[in-house]
Amino acid sequence: MSGSALAQDASADQLRGVAKTIFAPVPTAAEIIKEKGYTPEQIQLGQWLFFEPRLSRSHIISCNTCHSVGTGGADNIPISIGHGWQHGPRNSPTVFNAVFNAAQFWDGRAADLKEQAKGPVQASVEMNNTPDAVETTLRSMPEYVELFGKAFGVESDPVTFDNMARALEAFESTLVTPNARFDQFLAGQPTLDEQELKGLNLFINKGCIACHSGVNVGGQGYFPFGVIKKPGAEILPPNDKGRFTVTNTASDEYVFRAGPLRNIALTAPYFHSGEVWDLEQAVAIMGSSQLGHELDADEVKAITAFLHTLTGEQPQVVYPTLPRSSIDTPKPQQ
Ligand code: HEM
Ligand code: HEM
Repeated sequence: MSGSALAQDASADQLRGVAKTIFAPVPTAAEIIKEKGYTPEQIQLGQWLFFEPRLSRSHIISCNTCHSVGTGGADNIPISIGHGWQHGPRNSPTVFNAVFNAAQFWDGRAADLKEQAKGPVQASVEMNNTPDAVETTLRSMPEYVELFGKAFGVESDPVTFDNMARALEAFESTLVTPNARFDQFLAGQPTLDEQELKGLNLFINKGCIACHSGVNVGGQGYFPFGVIKKPGAEILPPNDKGRFTVTNTASDEYVFRAGPLRNIALTAPYFHSGEVWDLEQAVAIMGSSQLGHELDADEVKAITAFLHTLTGEQPQVVYPTLPRSSIDTPKPQQ
């Protein structure tokens, strides 16, 4: 081995040592299921419900419409389109690894995946349905009644909106992406090349880790978007005040959850406004808006190369065959 390769190995080891104190590998679905104690029936039910368009008033929109498991758990458009072709106000974040976020949504307004799951079904710009209508729909299909019964056992009337949310949470908790090249690196393997190591080093030393760390490389804390310099109005639309609407505290104006960066290479466009398609541009914006530092082109490229190593093994989800509607199933509505 040449002297310089030796030196590089030594510094890669050193960098790995530091990185292991800041980040953590994504666990496997099996590990999460064991930890949380979900049963196979709860997960299977959650999987049906995730792909179930009859949760929506129109019967054409499912969770997977805006969080497609085939495209990184997101919809890859700027702001999501829901009931009646209405636009919601924000970009749809990925559901992959969402179980590791401290709270859900760009403004953290839902504590966990169960609380979150009740939102989109009722949101007028998403699925535009009501808990009562959802329960009536699900109760009209014997296969659902049976699986709710198996999943939530003891209860006499297991088909409830609350149990729908519990099952969705169980399924979503399995949508994790372990074994990214970065995780292999953390585990001691030489999986990052020189450019990616440089990017990791910059990500740590420029200060990105102040807001993006842990298993999900973000998703833990809230920060003003534009701590140092506010991005332009199209990237940070003035009418979306972020966490302010949750806390009603003036200092929370334009505060958002630091984006989780796992699989970020798969989930363009970026930011809550979904206005930035190019990951390099998103990195450069973060440099100036959050760090007050104009990253040069080489730095941006290296950090972006590192971010690409955060793409993990995508969950292999089988599209379920859903229960047939019965004569009692409510009809789709406009
Ligand atoms: C946010 C799950 C339906 C669009 C989220 C999050 C989760 C999730 C877990 C938070 C992720 C995070 O904060 O990191 C679900 C489930 C659904 C569903 C289980 C079905 C019951 C939909 C639909 C749409 C949609 C149909 C589009 C019409 C969005 C958007 C956000 C979001 C725009 C971000 C909203 C904000 O931060 O204010 N969803 N989703 N979702 N989802 Fe969904
Ligand atoms: C979002 C990278 C530094 C807070 C993002 C996104 C990327 C990124 C790629 C977009 C996520 C998405 O659209 O899903 C970086 C890099 C950094 C850095 C490479 C260092 C150069 C920081 C710092 C903070 C921060 C220091 C906190 C002071 C945030 C916040 C968001 C975000 C709040 C969400 C913005 C929004 O509302 O759309 N970051 N970040 N970031 N980051 Fe950073």
